[in-house]
Amino acid sequence: MSLEVRPVRTQNGVAILGVFVADLVFSADRLPIPGETLKGAGFQIGPGGKGSNQAVAAARAGADVSFITRLGQDTFGAMARKLWSGDGIAAHVTETDTPTGAAFVHVNSVSGENAIIIVPGAAAELSADDIDAAEAVIAGSKVFVTQLEQPVAAAQRGLEIARAHGVTTVFNPAPAESIPDAVYPLCDFIVPNEAETSALTGFPVASLDDARRAGDVLLSRGVGVALITLGERGALFHARDRSVLTPAWQAGQVVDTTGAGDAFIGSFAAALASGEDPLEAVGFGCAAAGLSVTRRGAAHAMPYLRDILGLRGAGPPALP
Ligand code: RIB
Repeated sequence: MSLEVRPVRTQNGVAILGVFVADLVFSADRLPIPGETLKGAGFQIGPGGKGSNQAVAAARAGADVSFITRLGQDTFGAMARKLWSGDGIAAHVTETDTPTGAAFVHVNSVSGENAIIIVPGAAAELSADDIDAAEAVIAGSKVFVTQLEQPVAAAQRGLEIARAHGVTTVFNPAPAESIPDAVYPLCDFIVPNEAETSALTGFPVASLDDARRAGDVLLSRGVGVALITLGERGALFHARDRSVLTPAWQAGQVVDTTGAGDAFIGSFAAALASGEDPLEAVGFGCAAAGLSVTRRGAAHAMPYLRDILGLRGAGPPALP
């Protein structure tokens, strides 16, 4: 006999499956070449991991957030728990003997651009069985979000469960890797950046026309909306009936772009869960991303609801 799951939805619940890692952030005006030692301008350790960053962004944007992951029993795992408890995030964690992961993050001290190597550690062991164990958490949410820092089989299972319970699905295919064809029709929103879009479709995404062409490819594979983030140009909402570019917000000097995509996705999901129209939610996400790049770090740079509303209240961004 199968157990009937009766989801009790919170008003604005967002369930996120993903990875926490400690970001080891090195600031320098360029990356060293092989064989070279370069003196940097700064170093910090802080909380990162795309899923965890998105969870913090969604919580600060006003959502009730549940985060599903695996952690090691170590200092970085303790860093994660402290972060989530500070932001009111309900953690659904399996602990393992494998260490919590880490990321090398290079931040260009001149442009604020980043380059990242991630080792997901304990979260690389997330399996479809772990996700089955969290079915009630996903079923009780209004929006489900996942990425690809944990194995694709776990992401796919999460999307299947969400879809089976009528939960809106947001899939961030990052870092880029090939995904089974069956994943696309499970996505109400697929949210890749330019590089990820290019990896998924097989052609460069340099212009808005390229992004629209890539959006058509993703729609033909079965996604509901291709929401392609275009860095400083903003985000393209590409659906069967409309294709709309929302410009990026300039909220101050750009010091660190790490986690800007996570700020966008977490706050977009929070806005969707609160019942916002999807295009309004994109504008909300763009404002959050614009604020995040004016602050250093990943999770610590996620803006609060009052800051996002304050920026939006100042008026719409100029069209590019
Ligand atoms: O999206 C930014 C994040 O990607 C960083 O925090 C790093 O941990 C990597 O996961």
